[in-house]
Amino acid sequence: MSNNSPAPPQQHIVIFGATSAIAQACARLWQQRGAQLVLVGRHAARLQALADDLRTRAGVTGAAHIHTLQADLDPLAGHATLVDKATELLGSVDIALIAQGSLPDQRRCEADPALALREVHTNGVSVVHLAELLGRHLAAQGHGSLAVISSVAGDRGRQSNYVYGAAKGLVTLYLQGLRNSLFASGVHVLTIKPGFVDTPMTAAIPKSGPLWASPEQVARGIVRAIDRRQDVAYVPGWWRLIMAVICAIPEAIFKRLKL
Ligand SMILES: NC(=O)c1ccc[n+]([C@@H]2O[C@H](COP(=O)([O-])OP(=O)(O)OC[C@H]3O[C@@H](n4cnc5c(N)ncnc54)[C@H](OP(=O)(O)O)[C@@H]3O)[C@@H](O)[C@H]2O)c1
Repeated sequence: MSNNSPAPPQQHIVIFGATSAIAQACARLWQQRGAQLVLVGRHAARLQALADDLRTRAGVTGAAHIHTLQADLDPLAGHATLVDKATELLGSVDIALIAQGSLPDQRRCEADPALALREVHTNGVSVVHLAELLGRHLAAQGHGSLAVISSVAGDRGRQSNYVYGAAKGLVTLYLQGLRNSLFASGVHVLTIKPGFVDTPMTAAIPKSGPLWASPEQVARGIVRAIDRRQDVAYVPGWWRLIMAVICAIPEAIFKRLKL
């Protein structure tokens, strides 16, 4: 960029599930651009540590641009107030990122249907409830991007993680409809589908092989996809091909595989 290029307009961004490793990496990229950030997270100490780190990076002049809202996002009743508070702090919302999630133990979910339903709630129901509220809010404003982290796991049900996969599949299909519904309003809806990412969520999984990505790598893909107003972003991009192959396997064969 030449010295005469105009500075990019300051972006007003709210991140739900902001303490997630992927969301933190996104926040650092946006902070470098001078964005105003509202960070919504459940864990007070982790939220404070993230805000402190971003404020230090921003320096004295940018430090006032970082706000926190502590909230557990499972209770649906609190969502509307959070959207209102974030809007009050930001003035208007240019980007809303929904990042919260949990990776349940599939076998424990099979043994405990109540746990399975709680996981579907956290990863699916609460996410689509928030997405609907945010989508309608952005439409009323007449602009903005809604970016939601789903997963490649939502593209096809597999025996090893079908509770988590079903919740992510709900999110993916819901966003497809919301994107269609909001298109005329000018609101951009992005479905983010990461593959394997080395974060606290996958701490218990042995990590080897070339398919694992870092949260920073995934965050760069998310920020770029929002800038480009993409509809769906596989991150890293090679997952689009992998999932195309997995989805193309006939069910009669797929059901026999140990995936
Ligand atoms: N890591 C992967 O391989 C992978 C792959 C595909 C998709 N994803 C998705 O990427 C997103 C981010 O995950 P990550 O990999 O960055 O893992 P992470 O670091 O473990 O982040 C998960 C975050 O979700 C938050 N959270 C969970 N339940 C919540 C609730 N009820 N209210 C508020 N916050 C809640 C957690 O908050 P606390 O800090 O309070 O626990 C944590 O900050 C998730 O949606 C995940 O499903 C991850």
